Amino acid sequence: MPKKLYLETVGCQMNVLDSELVVGSLRRQGYQLTETTDDADVILFNTCSVRQHAEDKIYSALGRLRFFKNTRPDAIIGVLGCMAQKDQEIIKKRAPHVDIICGTGQLAQLPTLITAARETGTLQLALSLDRTEARHEVERSFESYDPSRDPSMRPNPFQAFVRIMIGCDKFCTYCIVPAVRGPEQSRPPEHIAAEVRQLAGEGCKEITLLGQTVNSYHHGSSALSDLLARIHDTPGIERIKFITNYPKDMTDDLLHAVRDLPKVSPYLHVPAQSGCNEVLKRMKRMYTVEFYRDMLARCREIVPDVAVSSDFIVGFSGETEESFQKTCDLVRDGKFKNSFIFKYSTRPGTKGHELYADDIAEEVKKRRNNDLLMIQNAASLTDHRAFIGKRVEVLVEGPSKNALKHAAGPLQLTGRTPSDHIVVFDGNPRLIGASIEIDIVDATSFTLFGNAVTGERIGVDEIREDCCEVPSATITKNDRISLPLVG
Ligand code: 5AD
Ligand code: SF4
Repeated sequence: MPKKLYLETVGCQMNVLDSELVVGSLRRQGYQLTETTDDADVILFNTCSVRQHAEDKIYSALGRLRFFKNTRPDAIIGVLGCMAQKDQEIIKKRAPHVDIICGTGQLAQLPTLITAARETGTLQLALSLDRTEARHEVERSFESYDPSRDPSMRPNPFQAFVRIMIGCDKFCTYCIVPAVRGPEQSRPPEHIAAEVRQLAGEGCKEITLLGQTVNSYHHGSSALSDLLARIHDTPGIERIKFITNYPKDMTDDLLHAVRDLPKVSPYLHVPAQSGCNEVLKRMKRMYTVEFYRDMLARCREIVPDVAVSSDFIVGFSGETEESFQKTCDLVRDGKFKNSFIFKYSTRPGTKGHELYADDIAEEVKKRRNNDLLMIQNAASLTDHRAFIGKRVEVLVEGPSKNALKHAAGPLQLTGRTPSDHIVVFDGNPRLIGASIEIDIVDATSFTLFGNAVTGERIGVDEIREDCCEVPSATITKNDRISLPLVG
């Protein structure tokens, strides 16, 4: 009987990629994924420490497993990733039934740790001791871990994340990442290029390069702009994205690469965090709001069709109503495609926690969060409405969330434009994985709606035949699917 693996992932794209690699390595050991903990032989949580809420979720899940472990002492429970790295002592105390605590740089050791936990019945710890040690571990894990990809482990085999760097040296005062993900370290460009070639050979069309501050990438004389040029002509790759950018490191060279390399998406996620200089200073973001606004203008001047998105934290220590209004002004003027807005969560282990009181009441944080969201939603609607009447290229990703809820009626598909705008349209599931053209006819703050122009779709010969679970309509050349839009 194959052993069953249950894996829950919380957090960012880095964690999604780590989980893909963990599942790949355990599949090679004969494990099969299961949807519930009930029948699992190994239960793993890949965790996040960026906000308290993400940690609470994991402790609740671990609490629910206490009784399970009494009835199934042979089952192995593991805590992986950022929380493991940061809080091994707390995990031991709060969840003594946990068998494995494994940091982000040690995930390649998991198969061995599982065997050892099973054989010895003792807690297996694999963690970085400090940031210097982490540097060597990461070098090793880059070598031995990333290239072993398994396309069946990704939600879509035609899309993949590729880690180009790890860690962060910026030390923004609110952020736990430098403590848990270790020092910033860039991967050699030849290794990245080899991984991209391998992924392309397995049918991958879109790659997203990952780094906490991806535009700080540098290896020898290679910057991100050089890396983009190097991987751009990889046969099979149609789209290249990269996330997340640090405002100070947005060079003209990089913007020129985005403008000049047709496969590179004109999409930049560049978190501002706040629109107030005093707050930015306490956050130690190392730029002013004037610098950020100039950077935005530069992005748009060099890459005229660029879509920019941002992150904001509301309720950071000492954020007055006046400071908050300055953030509202930036969101009003910034013309962001979308923004992710977070309530400040103080993180023990950061300078912010040590130096400043978490002095903004929860209700005030909530109100500011809602206010900013409303301003951003209005801006997103304006951004989205500008697409009505235009024809866009969409990489079809799968059925829309709505389609999964309502089985009846024509199938609603979803995909993204090169600028990362989400498009929903009715179409044949065989289009999943293809790049097609869509005429946009409607828009909300979150979604563009349109009609597929099937006769002019791109990559028509490459439509995947093996993902047709829903009966397909016949699509002939120049046939236009024009079905009612669903809001
Ligand atoms: N509290 C709230 N949000 C945070 N972020 C990072 N640290 C914190 C924190 N302590 C947000 C930032 C970052 C995003 C990934 O998470 O906006 O860009
Ligand atoms: Fe955290 Fe700042 Fe580094 Fe981003 S740049 S990961 S917010 S420390």
